[in-house]
Amino acid sequence: MTARTAEESKTIMTDLVLPSETNPLNNLFGGELLARMDRAASIAARRHSRRIVVTASVNHVAFNRSIPLGSVVTIEAKVSRAFKSSMEVYLDVWIEDRESGECIKANEAIYTFVAVDETGRPIRVPELIAETDLEKQRFEAALRRKQLSLVVAGKMKPNDATELKALFE
Ligand SMILES: CC(C)(COP(=O)(O)OP(=O)(O)OC[C@H]1O[C@@H](n2cnc3c(N)ncnc32)[C@H](O)[C@@H]1OP(=O)(O)O)[C@@H](O)C(=O)NCCC(=O)NCCS
Repeated sequence: MTARTAEESKTIMTDLVLPSETNPLNNLFGGELLARMDRAASIAARRHSRRIVVTASVNHVAFNRSIPLGSVVTIEAKVSRAFKSSMEVYLDVWIEDRESGECIKANEAIYTFVAVDETGRPIRVPELIAETDLEKQRFEAALRRKQLSLVVAGKMKPNDATELKALFE
């Protein structure tokens, strides 16, 4: 299976915030942002694996900055690491300033997708090649996050989480 670069999976989605997508403070509803990020991440995972992909977990979401009604929101999703059948996808969310056109980082998130066959069984995905410093940094930390996610989900014993143990030694 040919390895693919993170850049090959890059997915950019730009959209507006409409009134029906906001909370009583006129900011983007959190669930709406989660859904938009899920869509962008699934496209990135599909571009990397060229397979059917399903969301296995949402590992991290930080709603650091609210996104007001009328904002232009850009979500950039890229696969940060591929394992056997699972892929970690890192998302960066930006808001565009109307006057300056400058993009300000609003939020980020990390999702895990699994490539499956037509019957829903996990199948192997190509390795990921990290090229830039940021991609390499995210690649390095991805195994630790995978183990943490599996421990929290009760799918891995804490004693088997080698990367997490190393943090406390
Ligand atoms: C995701 C799914 C395919 C995993 O199936 P499974 O029987 O647990 O399969 P496995 O135990 O072999 O795990 C498959 C991979 O997922 C990873 N995985 C499973 N749960 C995970 C979690 N909570 N966090 C991170 N990775 C996870 C495993 O580590 C494994 O990765 P690897 O092959 O790269 O090592 C299955 O749980 C599923 O179909 N879930 C529903 C998906 C869905 O419908 N999503 C939309 C929600 S509305």
